[in-house]
Amino acid sequence: MSSVHPVPAEWAANAKINAERYESMYAAAANDPDAFWRKEAMRLDWMTPFTKIKNTSFHEADFGIKWFEDGALNVAANCIDRHLAERGDAVAILWEGDSPGEDRRITYRELHEEVCRLANALKANGVRKGDRVTIYLPMIPEAAFSMLACARVGAIHSVVFGGFSPDSLSGRIQDCDSTLVITADEGLRGGKKVPLKANVDEALAQCSSVSRVLVVRRTGGDILMKDGRDVWYHEAVAKASAECPAEAMSAEDPLFILYTSGSTGKPKGVLHTSGGYLVWASMTHEYVFDYRPGDIFWCAADVGWVTGHTYVVYGALANGATTLMYEGVPNHPDFSRFWQIVDKYEVDIFYGAPTAIRALMREGEEWVKKTSRKSLRLLGSVGEPINPEAWEWYYRVVGDERCPIVDTYWQTETGACMMTPLPGAHALKPGAASKPMFGVKPVIVDAEGKVLEGPTDGNLCITDSWPGQMRTVWGDHERFFQTYFTTYPGKYFTGDGCRRDEDGYYWITGRVDDVINVSGHRMGTAEVESALVAHAKVAEAAVVGYPHDIKGQGIYAYVTLNANETESAEVRAELVKWVRQEIGPIATPDVIHFAPGLPKTRSGKIMRRILRKIAEGDTSNLGDISTLADPSVVESLVTSRSVPA
Ligand code: WTA
Repeated sequence: MSSVHPVPAEWAANAKINAERYESMYAAAANDPDAFWRKEAMRLDWMTPFTKIKNTSFHEADFGIKWFEDGALNVAANCIDRHLAERGDAVAILWEGDSPGEDRRITYRELHEEVCRLANALKANGVRKGDRVTIYLPMIPEAAFSMLACARVGAIHSVVFGGFSPDSLSGRIQDCDSTLVITADEGLRGGKKVPLKANVDEALAQCSSVSRVLVVRRTGGDILMKDGRDVWYHEAVAKASAECPAEAMSAEDPLFILYTSGSTGKPKGVLHTSGGYLVWASMTHEYVFDYRPGDIFWCAADVGWVTGHTYVVYGALANGATTLMYEGVPNHPDFSRFWQIVDKYEVDIFYGAPTAIRALMREGEEWVKKTSRKSLRLLGSVGEPINPEAWEWYYRVVGDERCPIVDTYWQTETGACMMTPLPGAHALKPGAASKPMFGVKPVIVDAEGKVLEGPTDGNLCITDSWPGQMRTVWGDHERFFQTYFTTYPGKYFTGDGCRRDEDGYYWITGRVDDVINVSGHRMGTAEVESALVAHAKVAEAAVVGYPHDIKGQGIYAYVTLNANETESAEVRAELVKWVRQEIGPIATPDVIHFAPGLPKTRSGKIMRRILRKIAEGDTSNLGDISTLADPSVVESLVTSRSVPA
C-alpha cells in the first residue's frame, strides 16, 4: 500500500477550491443543478442568453440530453474574440517544433486573424454551417486554427489522429461525409516524416464526398497536388479577409465529432455540442488545474484525441490561457526534451500520460534532474490508470515532491474531466482518480445493476447528465442509447471497472468491456481482429490485452492460419505489418500467438476470459473449462504461449 500525500498547506490556503469549497460546490451542483450551472455558464459570452438550463433523461421513454438549449453562442468567439480587449497581445499558443530551436508564438490578436482568414477560406471553398470538415494534421498551430475556424463558421470538425492509416482515415471521412479535408504535406515526429498528404490521397480514392483538400506546407516534402481539388493552405488564407463574423450557434448545435473505439463494430463518431461542452471544458480547466491568468499551461496530448481537444484547445483558450503545443515526442532528441521545454517556457502546469512517464522513468532520473523545472506548480495525468510506482516517480523526480498530481479520469464521451483530486482540496492517493467533479454522480453497480454502497468494487456508472456529455453517435442515435444506457437502464455506463475505498475515493481499475488501452490510446479488440481476419492467410483471430510495462496494456493476438498455411516468423512479421497498414501504428500487435484452435463454448462463443489469463501468463487458475467444446485447446495454447517481449 503506497503513501497518502496530504494537501500542502499553501495549496489549502490559496487554491481556488479547498476542501470546504469542494464539498459545498459539489452539494450545490447535486441539489440545485439549474442554479449551479446558470452561474457556471456565465463564464462564457452568450449571443442569446439561455433561459432553459438542464433538460436531460437517461430513460428510454423520454431519453434526451440538452443543456442551455435556447441559448446561442459561438465557441471560437469565446476562445478568442472576448479576450482581445484585455489579452490581445498575450500569447495564446506557444508552439514548440519537433526539433529544438523551432518555435512560434501566436498572440490572441494573431490567433484572431489566422482563424478569421481560414474561416473565410473555408467559406470560399464551399463550407457551410453544419458541414463536416476532417482535420488530419500534425501538432502544428494550424490544427488549432482549423478547429476554431470550423467553430467560427459553424462547421463540424472531425479531427483524425495523424497516426491513423489511409483506411482508417477514409472510414472516418465516409462515416460523416466530410466535404473538405485539411492536412499537411508531411508530419514530423521524432525526426521522422509522416506522409500525411499521401495518406489523404489514398484515403480519398474511396471517398466521394470530399471536393477540396487544404494542404499546409510543413516540411516542404514532395507531394502531389491534384488540380481542382487540392489547394495550398497558405495561398487560400492569403487571399481571404482577416474579418469574419462569428456565426451564432445554438447551444445544442454540434461542435465536433471525434471517432473512438468501442467494444463492438467500427469506431463511433462521438458528437459534442457547443454550449454545454465549452462550459464543462472551461470550468474543469480552471478548477482541476487551479488555472490562474498568466499561467503557461502544457497539455502534452495530441489534438487527435479528446484530451487535446478539451485541454490543448477549447478549455485553455476559453479561459484566455497560454497553451503550449508540442509537435514532437518525449525522447527526441533525447530523454530530457519534455523538461527542457518546461524550462524554456517556464511551464506552470504540465499534463501528460502515464505511458510517457513510464517510458521516461525507465531511462533514469538523470535526464530529468539535469533540468530545473522550478516553474512547475502542478502535474497532471490522464488517459489510463497510473500505477503507484510511476506516480511516485512523477511526484518525486519530476515534481520534486512539490507539485500535486491531478490524476484525471474521463473519456471521449464525457467531454472533460469526470473524476480527479483537486490540488487544494484532496489528499493524494497515488493511482486514485479520487473524487467526482461538480455535477458528476458516480455509482458502482454489480453485474446485475444493483447499486453498491460503501467501500466496494464493481462497474462504474453515472446516474445523471453533466453539461459536457456526448449527445449522440453521429448518424446512429439508437447506437448511442444502446451502447451506454441499456446495460444498466437509466444510467450511463462508462465501460470501466471501479473501486471505492473507505474514504470514498474512486479508483479506476480498467475497462471491463472489450476495449483495451494501449499507451493511453483506446483500441477495440474487435477492430484488430477484423483487420487480422481480413488477411488472406488468416482463418480466425482473437485479440486481448495483457499488462505491459510501458504501454499499460499490450495487444496480444491469437491467430489461427488457414489450413494450407505454415506458421513462421515471416508470416508473423507480415501480419504485424498488415495490421499497421490497416489501422495504424498504434494498433501494432505486440504478440502474435499462432493458435491451432481457439477455446469456444459449444455454441461457438470464444471464451475471452481464458485467452486473457493465458496472455497474462496466469495459467494456474483458468477456472471452469468444462463448458468448452474442446477443452484440449486450452492445454495446447498454454504450452505454445509466446512470452511477450
Ligand atoms: C481510461 C481519454 C484510469 C478509462 C481522456 C476510460 C483512465 C478511457 C484515466 C477513456 C485515469 C482515462 N485513470 N483510467 N485517469 N483516464 N482512463 O476516450 O478506461 O481516450 O474509459 O479518453 O481511458 O479513453 P479516451
